[in-house]
Amino acid sequence: MKVPLPMLDVPHAAKPATAPRAASSTAPAELSGKQVFKLFPTPLFTGMLSDITICDRVEKKLRELQRAGRGSFAAKDAMRAYMSPDDLQNLPEMAELVDVIMRESAQILDIYAIKRDSHYITNMWANIAHPNRRHTMHMHPNCLFSGIVYIKTPQHCGPTVFASPRQLAKNLEPTYLAKNEFNADVFVMPPEKGRMLLWPSHVPHAVEEGKADESEDRIVLAFNIMIRGRVEISTARLDLS
Ligand SMILES: [Fe+2]
Repeated sequence: MKVPLPMLDVPHAAKPATAPRAASSTAPAELSGKQVFKLFPTPLFTGMLSDITICDRVEKKLRELQRAGRGSFAAKDAMRAYMSPDDLQNLPEMAELVDVIMRESAQILDIYAIKRDSHYITNMWANIAHPNRRHTMHMHPNCLFSGIVYIKTPQHCGPTVFASPRQLAKNLEPTYLAKNEFNADVFVMPPEKGRMLLWPSHVPHAVEEGKADESEDRIVLAFNIMIRGRVEISTARLDLS
């Protein structure tokens, strides 16, 4: 695919003097028909739930689980955090959200043209935490796509941060005069109630420390997607069931 060459501003570079173009034999050689191919893109799919009240129904069920002591709780002296059991996809109260996740992930698998018999949510859980609580950088192994839905987002609560999967290419790091899509190594997504994010599971992500001055909980539901079927490539024949 051809894309036009972006006009990158290079403020520290001296512009060559514009000499009158005399006979073509004396003009400096230059490239014409320049292009930039942006190879191997990393997608982040996102959209808003059309019915935001799903979030309220999900929160009601999560609070029930939390009150019943189902799941795990951070140490009492830490900034509070609760993680639900990770099989929420099986609860009837999650069915309407599971339907959306299954439909959207099917579309993404189709965009990738991934051959499969079916796909499924491997696990689904929720984090209920202090709005300023951090979560260290991590990725989700052994699944194809991962996602979250913001269920409750107090103002200035911690944003989700995605790190470039090209980190290993940063062994030599020059000073950048400005950040742009060619040199950025993080992407910060502000949380928004009802917004779903889906990304390839190898992309590292974290939750940055929030700056909320209220103590209302930040609630995020997370899930992973995997396929069923036979993978037939010469290096590996996998039965994914
Ligand atoms: Fe995660």
